Amino acid sequence: MIFYFTATGNSLYVAKQLDNHLVSIPQVMDNSDLTFRDDRIGVVCPVFGHEAPLMVQEFLHKAVFETDYFYMILTYGNRHGGAAELAQKLLESCGIQPAYINIVLMADNFLPAFDMDEQKELNKHVDEQIAAIRADIESRRHWISPVTDADRAAHQEFLARSTTPPAERWKDIYNVTDACIGCGICTKVCPAGCWALKNGKPVYEGTMCQGCMACIHACPQKAIQLRMPEKNPKARYRNEHITLAEIIQANQRIG
Ligand SMILES: Cc1cc2nc3c(=O)[nH]c(=O)nc-3n(C[C@H](O)[C@H](O)[C@H](O)COP(=O)(O)O)c2cc1C
Ligand code: SF4
Ligand code: SF4
Repeated sequence: MIFYFTATGNSLYVAKQLDNHLVSIPQVMDNSDLTFRDDRIGVVCPVFGHEAPLMVQEFLHKAVFETDYFYMILTYGNRHGGAAELAQKLLESCGIQPAYINIVLMADNFLPAFDMDEQKELNKHVDEQIAAIRADIESRRHWISPVTDADRAAHQEFLARSTTPPAERWKDIYNVTDACIGCGICTKVCPAGCWALKNGKPVYEGTMCQGCMACIHACPQKAIQLRMPEKNPKARYRNEHITLAEIIQANQRIG
């Protein structure tokens, strides 16, 4: 059994390579029974500011995993900032003893810093990284990806710059332009159910935005823009192996 959270498909692509029993975290988040039992249980998600998304953190705090082998994989695009160690601390604070934590370098979907057209062209040797992780998990390797002092310093430097708490960070940052055709895709790919279609236009009504950027990347019109400068407002990203339907299936919170 593998749990995943994904905005643009990277983490779902990894999850699909590691297990056949896939469970989307946004889809089970609100279940009354969050006890899960399996021979091995994994969690795959992106890092946001080197850490797991807030929804994943909340899920890990609420869920109970009955397994002999718990592992976590963090996908990232540029700088992991000690993500494995941060994840280990998170898991331990949830009473989970991880057997294995690893990281996978993939396309970076963070629009303020990266041009998606460039990211799509980079060869980050994703399949080689996943193959090594799959072999580790199948042999039930116990291992935590090592973290250096430079990684820890990068995270501290990031924290010092981020004065707004994560839950507040992504409020009022979207601008829907006249290019919107009212297709409703943004409302369906949002894992936190933040968008509602009103009079044919999306209205941001959320309180739990994860900052995942799924809505921005999935808009066929590129009509959702960040209010902060973007590297290339004309370029958007979805993992080449993952369909829009899979992102919707993973994330849709409303009827
Ligand atoms: C808000 C936000 C913050 C991010 N922070 C980091 C980061 O600190 N370091 C990094 O290397 N990548 C960062 N990324 C990139 C994603 O972690 C990476 O592209 C990930 O593979 C996306 O996974 P997904 O396609 O499953 O959503 C960030 C992306 C977003 C949207
Ligand atoms: S996905 Fe884009 S075009 Fe479709 S409703 Fe949302 S903002 Fe409008
Ligand atoms: S509003 Fe957009 S960025 Fe925020 S959680 Fe929803 S899809 Fe992600």
